[in-house]
Amino acid sequence: MDHKFKIPSVNLFSLNPFTVKREISNPIPLFLKSLKKFNGFLIVKIPFSSKKTYLTDKPNVIRHVLQKNNRNYTKSKLVQESVAPQIGNGLLTSEGEYWLKQRRAIQPAFHRGKLEYISQVMSDEIKVFMDEVLEKHVHSGESFQIDTEMMHLAFKLVSKSLFGKDPEDDKLDLIGEVVSYGQQYQTKRIRMPFLKPWLYITGQTSKNEKMKKLGQDLLMEIISLRQESSEKKDDLLQMLIDTEYEDGTKMTNQQLLDESLIIYVAGHETTAIAMAWAIYLIATHPNVESKLVQSIAEDLKGEEPSFSNLRKLSYTTQVIEEAMRLYPPAWLVDREAINDDEIDGIKIKKGIPISCLIYSMHRHSDFWNKPNEFDPDRFSIENKKNHTPFSYIPFGGGPRLCIGNNFAMMEMQLIIAMIFQKYTFELITEKDSIDMQPMITLRPKNGILVKIQKR
Ligand code: HEM
Repeated sequence: MDHKFKIPSVNLFSLNPFTVKREISNPIPLFLKSLKKFNGFLIVKIPFSSKKTYLTDKPNVIRHVLQKNNRNYTKSKLVQESVAPQIGNGLLTSEGEYWLKQRRAIQPAFHRGKLEYISQVMSDEIKVFMDEVLEKHVHSGESFQIDTEMMHLAFKLVSKSLFGKDPEDDKLDLIGEVVSYGQQYQTKRIRMPFLKPWLYITGQTSKNEKMKKLGQDLLMEIISLRQESSEKKDDLLQMLIDTEYEDGTKMTNQQLLDESLIIYVAGHETTAIAMAWAIYLIATHPNVESKLVQSIAEDLKGEEPSFSNLRKLSYTTQVIEEAMRLYPPAWLVDREAINDDEIDGIKIKKGIPISCLIYSMHRHSDFWNKPNEFDPDRFSIENKKNHTPFSYIPFGGGPRLCIGNNFAMMEMQLIIAMIFQKYTFELITEKDSIDMQPMITLRPKNGILVKIQKR
């Protein structure tokens, strides 16, 4: 590339009073338009602030940052300064030697072989969810928000996987409220930094601090009780407690708290959102639904979905993968260069965040035929061979690849297979009015209203 190449720049939102509100709440359309216009790489500026970020949807650039030259990149200051104080110094937010030590120690707990017990906990909870929640909706015949129900389910699943049957439900609900409030508060702070004084004056900052303290106290209570108990459990908390570093020491209660909170935050909303979008897509594609139902019946031959037969559920897995292509829950990941760098002729300056827009890459016509169509066959074994490397990364890539990817895939296979064996959904929200709300994750804006029937 010519050394005089000047990286084009656009504002995060226009200063047009008629469109600004829409652009702040969902900057994705503006990002897509700008990425297309400037061939996949540009600078985005936040008006009224000195903040700016590189924005890209180029697989080679993203691969360079996350994988090939990952040692030159850290999580952006945004994560370090806004997210870490909120959710603590755990795997998602830590850096360098400390991160590596924690990653090495925690990784074995997420090994596929270790997930067998957790899969049983999950299928028991999904059965309870179907009997108590979905049956209620079947009988009432009324519409309900599938995204809200999936959020409750995923929260229960991550809670039970972490802490088994230890905490009472009302405590878990409180932790859920704390996590959800914290995410909303932080998204406002990150997207509209100029609103900081307003958040302070309106009491939202102090409410967030109080909620955070409440959540930490609740988690510490659960951890302390477990440390005092002589009974050995099979859940993730026990695995974290039993984990030994190379020098034979173990995690402190504060480290256990930080890592548990991170697993909550990283592990429930992402999966819930993926499931809500998947159910929306299945409900609006009858051909996919019939193929899915038929394939589950053929793959399982009347057995219930379980750890031992999940590998057989190939079409179910394709449906989940395709849903996460169209609606990647982690729609953007960001990093910051430690030293100046150059990627295929593009000069990257140290200290400026680089935002990798996974959403745009997953829908790019250079890598996907009819990119906006829902077609799970793209993920058949044959077709996967033709995917452009690094053009599909719902779980990120490189050394900081999602540690919970096997956990999440297992959870989603169980949910989809168990639910679609029994039920069918009808979309009630007008299809055209379904929209996205990109917060830290890619939520459906105003929810997805459905009705449910027995198959
Ligand atoms: C569909 C579900 C999920 C998606 C799409 C997802 C996506 C991601 C992505 C993209 C990253 C990398 C972020 C970055 O590079 O900046 C990540 C990291 C992480 N995820 Fe997930 N995740 C999911 C489920 C889970 C679950 C279920 C857990 C835990 C039970 C989990 C725990 C984590 C943790 C701890 C990290 C940080 C890893 C590290 O930096 O070493 N995730 N996830």
